[in-house]
This record gives sequence, structure tokens and C-alpha cells, in this order.
Amino acid sequence: MIHRDEPAGTFLLTGDGFGYALAVEPDGSPRHLHWGAPLDPADPPRLLADADAARIGSNTWSRPRAHTEELVTAGGARFDECALALADAPLDPRFVESEVDGDRLALRLADGPLVVTLRYEVRGPALVRGLELHNTGDEPVTLTRASSATWSVPWQVGYHATTLGGGYAAETTVRRVPLGPGKLVCESRRGIPGHAFQPWLAVDDDAGEDHGELWSVAVAHGGSWRIVAELSGDGHLHLTAGAGDAVLRLSPGARLRLPDTIGVYSPTGRAGLTHRWHDYEREHVLRRPDEVRPVLYNSWEATFFAVGHDDQVALARRAHDLGVELFVVDDGWFTGRDDDRGGLGDWRADPAKLPGGVAALADEVHALGMRFGLWVEPESVNPGTDLYRDHPDWVYRWPGREPTAVRHSYGLDFADPDVREWAFGWLDALVRDGHVDYLKWDLNRSLTDAPGYASRCHEAGFRAVVDRLRAAHPDLWLETCASGGGRADLATLSRFETAWPSDNTDAFERLAIQDGYAFVHSPLTMSCWVTDSPGYLTRRTVPLAFRFHAAMTGTLGIGGRLADWPEADLTAARTFVALYKQIRATVQLGRRWRLRADPDRTAVCHVGQDGGQVVVLVFARTVRQSHLAPPIRLRGLDPDARYRDTTTDVTYTGTFLTHHGLRPVLAGDYASSLVVLTRE
Ligand code: GLA
Repeated sequence: MIHRDEPAGTFLLTGDGFGYALAVEPDGSPRHLHWGAPLDPADPPRLLADADAARIGSNTWSRPRAHTEELVTAGGARFDECALALADAPLDPRFVESEVDGDRLALRLADGPLVVTLRYEVRGPALVRGLELHNTGDEPVTLTRASSATWSVPWQVGYHATTLGGGYAAETTVRRVPLGPGKLVCESRRGIPGHAFQPWLAVDDDAGEDHGELWSVAVAHGGSWRIVAELSGDGHLHLTAGAGDAVLRLSPGARLRLPDTIGVYSPTGRAGLTHRWHDYEREHVLRRPDEVRPVLYNSWEATFFAVGHDDQVALARRAHDLGVELFVVDDGWFTGRDDDRGGLGDWRADPAKLPGGVAALADEVHALGMRFGLWVEPESVNPGTDLYRDHPDWVYRWPGREPTAVRHSYGLDFADPDVREWAFGWLDALVRDGHVDYLKWDLNRSLTDAPGYASRCHEAGFRAVVDRLRAAHPDLWLETCASGGGRADLATLSRFETAWPSDNTDAFERLAIQDGYAFVHSPLTMSCWVTDSPGYLTRRTVPLAFRFHAAMTGTLGIGGRLADWPEADLTAARTFVALYKQIRATVQLGRRWRLRADPDRTAVCHVGQDGGQVVVLVFARTVRQSHLAPPIRLRGLDPDARYRDTTTDVTYTGTFLTHHGLRPVLAGDYASSLVVLTRE
């Protein structure tokens, strides 16, 4: 809902559980008033008067109100981090007109020929803010900074920033650090969101799991991005968010729409923040938000590049016997792909490996009653392929220099319509002729050998190919992967049913990665596989139950060498998969509550959409005699209800489970427990 107070020049935007207010000042500059709890429509004019009163006390050493500017630009006496900057002129856009359309507000500003439109849209618990640029003049306009929004956080006594990141095989680890005066810059310059940080940042003063306020911002963009948290000397914090830095040239008449940024506020601690992000994703972002994801098998860790028709069929039979519903053949199925040095670009089934082609393998998988999926990496090419020989000009390269190889491949320029046409052509044919139901779309290199703005063009090209493929094959499902979790942003997730959060399938290490992924993203897209132990990345030995339980906190998959699994493990796996199918609607579509998230003990509980089923998963690195079984207090329960443990038949009250807790049976190292409760 948007309320406009015409005489005061204020706007109040109200969503599910939050309010956001701004004003247009008499001189035409937009001013930020509020982001946080919902307000009364009488509040924004009062906030404006109050902000004016605060200005009286300010000195004139610098323009004293950059923190209250709705859009910080480079020009005049402004020295803070700015969202927009021109290369060779100051920028101070002033109000031209506003337009309110339901839950959308557009504020058009202009400075000379450059028209800047601030776009706002209330979407459930989130506010979406974007920005459009239009060069109405006869001369080109060059920008050296083009972020999408400045978000102001209300004044706090202290500030902490929470980020989700780490690196390859350690993505989305939750980190919370105090902010001092100055800037915290979180960014990716890789042409994809990358592994170091999710394009997301949250700020709080003293929030905990169940209490305190948090303000968070995400950039919905699958390319390079940047979020800068700047704490000024007078204790105000603003977040500048958008696509990564680039010199952008707007030719006369050109329009440019910058990526959306999304702001979510929580007054109820981290749990409330997580739930608001999940609600936003489910209601406004994700594809097939109400459909549970199938139990998947992926061949990567079982066969790596040694894909063969008969072996894959044998694997598919074993997977099907465990209850798997979707069988995905990973890398290695196409010509020249015996390792990661060749093949990318020549997307034909290797006749030595798949003599009947992709369709023959797909048909066998279908005959078993499973869906069939295949791995692709459309944006890369290996030198030595026919594609590279025929089109050396399709890769990113600086004039006169050799392109940079990353994992032995070069980057294909998806901004080039010929490249996009080629990519769509073979993907379309592969899906149709190969009887493919599901594609794992990978990218194992960062964008190199191109100027900063190429990241924006590449991302737009990538989206265009994906959108065209989806339109041509409405039943196709897609998984996003970039060496694990390198491309799991909100723009990409709006096009892909599922994501591969990390190559790290060591169940113990993965708990932290999954904890961070599910901090903002719905578990519906969080693909988790049970693989062999010890695994190829860490060589850690983890019991089968722990591996299954860890994967059952998201969308369950299996990725082990099933031929080597002892009969007892196969029997246990069958039971786990069957149990998972009984709880997956709760895990994937219900509310996720973090109970403990430290390396020694992790616990999570999922409460089904109607509150009828509760799934509790507890993990311990080791169980010490002195600390055998501390109770785990549950969250999200109805205090007036009774819950029955479906294994022991013991019934508990909601108050008992909330205030005293469950005592799960744990023993030894890498111990885990799964408890399913039903409301009586
Ligand atoms: C990346 C992916 C893996 C696997 C390999 C195949 O590393 O993250 O899951 O698909 O590529 O080469």
C-alpha cells in the first residue's frame, strides 16, 4: 500500500510488517525518512519536520545529511559513498514527477539531459528498489558509478553486519562482524555473484535469533555486484547496493534499467528475517513455489568424467531402487570430455560413451519411472574444440592478447547475438531430441578479459537464453551451479527450480554452508546430496545416518558410488529416502527454525505449513560424557498444542518442548538424530 501526503510531499509505503517513508523536499531533492516498523500515515510529515530540526544542529563542514538522502550522487559537498556518479560533471537530479500505481511508486528526477527514475515496489514482506537511467540529450553520458539504491538504516547505538560467504567449497557461512566508522565493501568482480559473499548483507545492533531488529539488502543480479556499508562519523549507516562498478556509456536516447535491490526488515530477530526472506522468495521469486522437489541422484562424485551408457543405466537402477525420482548425468557425457581440459563447446554425445546418444540413456531412465537430467556448461569453451576453431572471435579477449584460461576454458560472450543463437540452438535441440527433463546449468569460470560493463551485458545475455529455453520447454526444470554456489542470486533463482549450494558434500562441513544458504533462501531450492565417505574434498569419515540427516534438512539427493555401498547401507538408504518423502513437504515448504548453529552442535526444526508436522534434526560433532544430552528447545510450536513423537509415541506439550526441550539420543562422533512430531 502506498500513501501519499500531497501537501507535505511525503510517501509512505507499507508492506507485510514494514514501513518505508520518503519525501520530496521543496528544492526537489528526495529525502529518506524511515525504514523499519509500519508507520501511521500521520508519521511521515512529522518525520520530515523532525529531520529539519536535526539539521539545525549540524555544522557546515560537509553537506550534513547525506545519510538521509534517498539517492546519494556525486556532486556538490557530498563525500559519502555514492550510488551514481558521472565521469565529467556533477550530478544532482531533482524531482520532475511521481507516479503511484497500486503498490508501485516511480519518482522521476532529472539533471540536465539525464533522467533518473527511482522505482519502488512493495512485494509482501519486501521492498524492491530499482533505478532507471535515460539519456534524453544529444551527447553521450558517461557514468563511473551506477548502483541501484542507497538504503538508510535508522540510527542505532552500534552496528553489526552479517554476511553469508567464504569461498569455493565454503560458501554461505554466516559471519557477523562489528562495524566501525568507514566502509565495509562486499562485492564480486567476477561476472557472477561468486563464492566469497552472497549478494546480500544484513545489519543489526543487538539482534539475536528471536529478538531485535535487522535490516537486510540483496542485489538481484547474476553478475558482478557491490554492497557498501558506510558508517559515518556521526553514527549513521547507509548501504549502497547494485551491480558492480563499471564505466557505462549511455548514448543519446539510451535507457538503462539497473538491477533490482531488495530490502527486508525484521523486528523479530534472525528467525523473523529468515522467514520474511523465505516468504518473499516463495511468493514473488521462485518457480513452482508450491511443488516439492524430487529426490535426485547425480553421477558426478560416482563416475566423474568416466560416463558410459551401461554404467549409468546400472547406476540409475540402483538409484531407482533406493527411491530416487530424478537421475542426473553430470559432466563427461559429450565428445572430448575425458577430463576438464576438453570438450566444452562441442555439445554432442560422445559416441564411444553413449553409443545410442543422450535419448537412449534418457529412455532407459524414463522406463524406470524417473525423470532424466543432464549437465551443461553453455558459457565456456575449451580451446581445441571445433567450436573454438570455428569461432575464436566468440570468446572474451583483449585485442592483441590471448584470453585467460580458467579451468582450461575461455568465456563465451553471451552479449553477442550470434553466440546466444548458437547456445539456444543446441540447448533446444538437446532438450527436445535428448528427451531431457532437467538441466544442471554450470559455469566453472569467472568472467575475464572484458571491461566491467561486460558483466552486465553477459548476465542479460545469459538470462535471455535461459528465458527463451524455458519458453520453448515449459516443463523443463533447471538447476543453477557455478562451481557450487557461485550463482545463486535472486535474479537467477527466479529462473531455476533448484540450486547447487556447494561442491563440498562433506556432511559435517556442509551443515554450516546449508545454515547460511537457508538463512535467506528457501530450503526448496537447497539441493543436498549424500555422497561417499570419506569424500573426495576433505577425506573425512562421517556415518551414513549423519550424511542422510544433513541432506534431509534441504532437498535430498544422492551422489555416491552405489555399486560400492554395502547391503546394510543400501537398506538404510531406502528407509531414509522413504522417510524423507514423508517429511519433505514440511522441510521444503514449511517454516525453518535455527535452534543451534555452532560447529559442535547444530539443530534445526521445520514446522509444516499447517503446523501439523514438526521435523527436528540435531547434529553433534562429538558427544562428551560430561555433556551427554542437553535438551534442545524447539521453536515455532503452538504452546497450547500437544505433539507426539512418531517413533516413541511419547506426547509432549508445546510449552514443554519450547521451554524445556527435547533430549535427542546422540552418541559418539558425528552423531545425529531425527525426530518427527505430529500435533495431536
Ligand atoms: C563443478 C560443479 C560440480 C560438477 C563439476 C563438473 O565443479 O560444481 O558439481 O558438476 O563442475 O565438472
